[in-house]
Amino acid sequence: MELLEILEALNQTHGPSGDEGSVREKIAELARPFADEVTADTLGSLIVRKKGDGPRVMLAAHMDSIGFIVTHIEKEGFLRVGKLGGISPKEAAYASVRFKNGVRGVFVPEEKADFGKLKLDECFIDIGVENEEEAKKLVQVGDTCVYDGPIRVQGSRVTGPYLDDRIACAVLLCALERIEKPACDLYLVFTVQEEVGLRGARTAAWWVEPDAGIAVDVTDVDDTPGSERCGTTRLGGGAGIKVMDSSVICHPQVVARLEELAKTGDIPAQRDIMRGGGTDAGALHTTRLGVKTGGVSIPCRYIHTPAETASLQDAEACVQLLTAFVEK
Ligand code: CO
Ligand code: ZN
Repeated sequence: MELLEILEALNQTHGPSGDEGSVREKIAELARPFADEVTADTLGSLIVRKKGDGPRVMLAAHMDSIGFIVTHIEKEGFLRVGKLGGISPKEAAYASVRFKNGVRGVFVPEEKADFGKLKLDECFIDIGVENEEEAKKLVQVGDTCVYDGPIRVQGSRVTGPYLDDRIACAVLLCALERIEKPACDLYLVFTVQEEVGLRGARTAAWWVEPDAGIAVDVTDVDDTPGSERCGTTRLGGGAGIKVMDSSVICHPQVVARLEELAKTGDIPAQRDIMRGGGTDAGALHTTRLGVKTGGVSIPCRYIHTPAETASLQDAEACVQLLTAFVEK
């Protein structure tokens, strides 16, 4: 399957942190034809095994997304929400949202709010009903919603609400399809609850007990006007080889191995340091007695907004690099 097709299929599923059932089902369905075993752990992370001789290797991509959770329903039918993960009210202003049952709404700041300092409590979701009673027929306190937008492609660039981290899930699924004979006992893990604190990766890594691990996630770029230089990568520069983020300092052997494979395989790559924000690598490397951990990153603009933008060529480079890592 093409990476883009997978991305489109995953974009239609519901999977905010803690409610990943529907995205998990879709990934399991896509992985099954190429896997030896497909299971899930107690928290819900999906563990896809492809057997091989050698050390146990875990590649992790989180399948949860940021989103909102309904906390109050007002007399007039407007919803007040809390957040799941690092979702910013300013960045979400006027975005369309979608509930698991298909109900649509729009996230709106109050007219009187100071937009520059916009707080979540000054925003509401309008689901187009007249009052509380009508609203309660459609949603309840505790229901979750996610950005509702299409995956759009122009040239080599792709834009959509949840490239973080569905593009990495698609990268892993493409690699799985391409790997002929792994030189390791391979576990592809699609983790839950990354956006609320790397929770799923922690339990899944304990279960897998890997000798080496790689977290695959999007990373910050430094290639747009007014960049705050939070990241080091640029779109189109190839696969990001992670050196560090706020949750991990990658194992030097893993960094060196990935760089060597990029060089010998003629795979475009660039070094990735993310100055703020962590990844599943953080939970992975401190599991049990410690795991040799690295990261392969897809450079992404406007992370955690409804318009995350990445390069399909960079994603393809990540597929090639990961395939080489597990085959050699
Ligand atoms: Co994220
Ligand atoms: Zn992520």
